[in-house]
Amino acid sequence: MNSKSEASAAGQAVNSKRILSIYDLWVLGISNSLIWKCRTKAILNWMNESLTSNHLDVGVGTGYYLDHCSFPNASVRLGLLDLNPNSLAAAASRASRYAPETYQADILQPLPDQPHRFDSVSLNYLLHCLPGDLNSKSTLFDHLNQWLNPGAIISGSTILAEGVPRSLSACKLMNFYNEKKIFTNSADSLEELQYQLQSRYTDVELKVTGCVALFRTRYIPSTTN
Ligand SMILES: C[S@@+](CC[C@H](N)C(=O)[O-])C[C@H]1O[C@@H](n2cnc3c(N)ncnc32)[C@H](O)[C@@H]1O
Repeated sequence: MNSKSEASAAGQAVNSKRILSIYDLWVLGISNSLIWKCRTKAILNWMNESLTSNHLDVGVGTGYYLDHCSFPNASVRLGLLDLNPNSLAAAASRASRYAPETYQADILQPLPDQPHRFDSVSLNYLLHCLPGDLNSKSTLFDHLNQWLNPGAIISGSTILAEGVPRSLSACKLMNFYNEKKIFTNSADSLEELQYQLQSRYTDVELKVTGCVALFRTRYIPSTTN
């Protein structure tokens, strides 16, 4: 394993079967409302406004959002991409009604060719788990673009450390997660997130709720691509 792959592995290693079993309760049920101050429902609503029926979810976790989201019509093509096989299996099982395509891959590395591109992609609570700073993590957008059709919607959410309001409990839990390498976001700022998105995309929407940034934009390839 090279050093980049080792660093990526740390960001997903926490998703053992045991952790996945408490994730929905601890993160989606308790931490989002009480600590990060952005209710799971707000993230779900943001995602619902950004979905097409040809959708890819990256960093699938337990598949909660895929189980609860509303696609615009009944015929859905769903792709799931994650580095962690436990997460992929859990999310695929939860979203089995869509017969999802699963891809085990590291989003920080270039992706293999994708002959059937997607019209939307969601990235919830992925960026803050990835190693590195927002500049290096944002290479994931360059990798993802190769799997997207022109005009595809890119949406997501991430917990930030700077440029957003943080309660004492948010600061303490974030520091603890950074020490344990569960998060790598102690230098992640709203300003840098905005810069990384705007340097790649036009019409970037950003909304801050608690210490969570919700983002949405569109992939418009440059004519030289
Ligand atoms: C905190 S969970 C988020 C789960 C879900 N999206 C949510 O918001 O509840 C982060 C997910 O990203 C995955 N992940 C972490 N690093 C990754 C990487 N380098 N490439 C692909 N997936 C990764 C983890 O395995 C995990 O499923």
